[in-house]
Amino acid sequence: MGKKMEVALITGAAGGIGYELAKIMYREGFGLVLVDIRAEAIAETPKLLAEQVGKRDTLVYTIVKDLTTDSAAEEIYEELSTKNITVDILINNAGLGDFGDFVNTNWKKQSTIIKLNMLALSHLTRLFLPTMVAQEYGRIMNVASMAAFQPSPLMSVYFASKAFVLSFSQAIADEIKDKNITVTVLCPGTTVTGFQAAVGAGNPELAGKRWAYSTAEEVAVYGYKAMMRGKLIAIPGVVNPWLAWLSKILPRSWVIRMVRRGQERNRRNFIKSGN
Ligand SMILES: NC(=O)c1ccc[n+]([C@@H]2O[C@H](COP(=O)([O-])OP(=O)(O)OC[C@H]3O[C@@H](n4cnc5c(N)ncnc54)[C@H](OP(=O)(O)O)[C@@H]3O)[C@@H](O)[C@H]2O)c1
Repeated sequence: MGKKMEVALITGAAGGIGYELAKIMYREGFGLVLVDIRAEAIAETPKLLAEQVGKRDTLVYTIVKDLTTDSAAEEIYEELSTKNITVDILINNAGLGDFGDFVNTNWKKQSTIIKLNMLALSHLTRLFLPTMVAQEYGRIMNVASMAAFQPSPLMSVYFASKAFVLSFSQAIADEIKDKNITVTVLCPGTTVTGFQAAVGAGNPELAGKRWAYSTAEEVAVYGYKAMMRGKLIAIPGVVNPWLAWLSKILPRSWVIRMVRRGQERNRRNFIKSGN
């Protein structure tokens, strides 16, 4: 009998880091369940993967879903159960941010961030983990951010949500450490994707400092390898691991002041780049 095809579910797979992860895993022959809110873009992914990687004889199943609705995770789980698709690898990648003083932010947007970055991520994990435990195999990758390591004025909810992702992932990794299931928290720094425009931050490519940002492909390659090795905290980039370490050892008040300056600079770059 042939080897069972492993299936990975990736959220936010229509673009950015999620799509690059899908590309790598398609190339490696994994079955894919790709979830995104963007109906047209996610419907295009099977064709795009075949064009960009070369046709593979594997499952590519797409689901259009707004993960911020209460029933989204259940609906995905039910749909896959009906189709007899077992998820061996869960990649909670979809995430949103927003910029501004909390007092002035749009609450609807903030609550969407909370629902997507924390609720959907933990609900999907709660639904798909029992099968991984039962089959004594699984991998989970939760995409956090360098934001997980410290608070940030002007992006308070986003940074707090990523601290949740880090803390939650470390805790469940310990709970299931004897079950042959690995948990990886991917913590990218600035990465060139649609995220910057959505958050209102400058295009990092325009800043010209190549060491200060990664491409989505670089982050995905790093994250995929870390996940397959079962590395718990995965920080891509040359400078980012040092910054994460500094956040731990410096007084919190200094770190917050430095992060605030960075946020203000990002905002100026965003406005300068014509937005
Ligand atoms: N880019 C960075 O600098 C950076 C740095 C650190 C961490 N991260 C994290 O990396 C992850 C991926 O980000 P990215 O930069 O690749 O972002 P991206 O290019 O914006 O891709 C995210 C995808 O998720 C989709 N999405 C948004 N809301 C959704 C919802 N409610 N339900 C389902 N799908 C939804 C997006 O659709 P729309 O385009 O319609 O929103 C988009 O297709 C996020 O968790 C982000 O926080 C990014």
